[in-house]
Amino acid sequence: MSQLNPAFKFQDNHPPASDFELEVLEGLAKSPKVLPPKFFYDEVGSGLFDAICRTPEYYPTRTESAIIRDNVDAIARCLGRGCLLVEPGSGNSAKVRDLLAALEPHSYMPMDISKAFLQKEARKLADEFPWLDVYAVCSDFTVSMDIPIYPEGVHRVAFFPGSSIGNFEPGDAAAFMRNIRGMVGDDGGLLIGVDMKKDVGILNAAYNDAAGITAAFNLNLLTRINKKLGADFDLSAFAHHAFYNEGPGRIEMHLRSLADQTVTVAGRAIPFRDGETIHTENSYKYARDEFAALAGDAGFRLDTCWQDAGGLFSLFYFAAR
Ligand code: AVI
Repeated sequence: MSQLNPAFKFQDNHPPASDFELEVLEGLAKSPKVLPPKFFYDEVGSGLFDAICRTPEYYPTRTESAIIRDNVDAIARCLGRGCLLVEPGSGNSAKVRDLLAALEPHSYMPMDISKAFLQKEARKLADEFPWLDVYAVCSDFTVSMDIPIYPEGVHRVAFFPGSSIGNFEPGDAAAFMRNIRGMVGDDGGLLIGVDMKKDVGILNAAYNDAAGITAAFNLNLLTRINKKLGADFDLSAFAHHAFYNEGPGRIEMHLRSLADQTVTVAGRAIPFRDGETIHTENSYKYARDEFAALAGDAGFRLDTCWQDAGGLFSLFYFAAR
């Protein structure tokens, strides 16, 4: 029980842990080689991601936060006070703090796969907002949107900031929003942050910051594989490679081998040609109407879209229809 906020509740849905070794070996056996971006976020990787968000080149985080702060009253009116606010993949619940005072939700339900981290962050938030009912749910939101039947008779709104939706393939993004639509029901909604298509120079700079933090974030994946699977990746023989791919409309991140080499991972020999890459992440960028159409396919109707003056980033509110 939380000390300051007696309304704090926690439910563990026991999400199955991913099989790191199996998924890494499967990805490296593919052609082209690929690794899932979810593996970026060990303790070091999460710290590096926070540092990326503070680089001058990576505009999405501060732009979205400014959009929320500048429009918080209008956002609260759209969502309707007294809702159950559900945040899949809540992490450290950083962005929701800017919403809570104006929105006055009945309750906040952070969802995350990492139990210890979720418990710590949700308790901290509950104690900062002692009037708020906080019900944390440990689950993998990409697999299941099942949430406790709580509280009854209160409309539900999902909050999915940060343009994390950009890291889904578009078909998976639509499927995920369809699950959200099922979870919020006919009187619910979705408040979602999305990075926009824009000048390619701005996009490429955001994923190639001058201080090299995004490069360190990408290369940390190899350090993690070395540590967890006893692999022998030589980090100086791989380079960060990120670029905007106009066709699919996405930033691609890769790790490029700088030589012909063989790496041993969990006892298996993995050959690399000079210049061959491991594809580590896609980050899709959308035009406003393109994203509204994707959400429309998932059963949502566009209510309001807030943007910064430069049109770099959008915060959409979609209502169930
Ligand atoms: C978490 N996600 C929205 C980030 C993005 O922009 O796609 C991850 C990231 N990768 C490199 N920089 C940031």
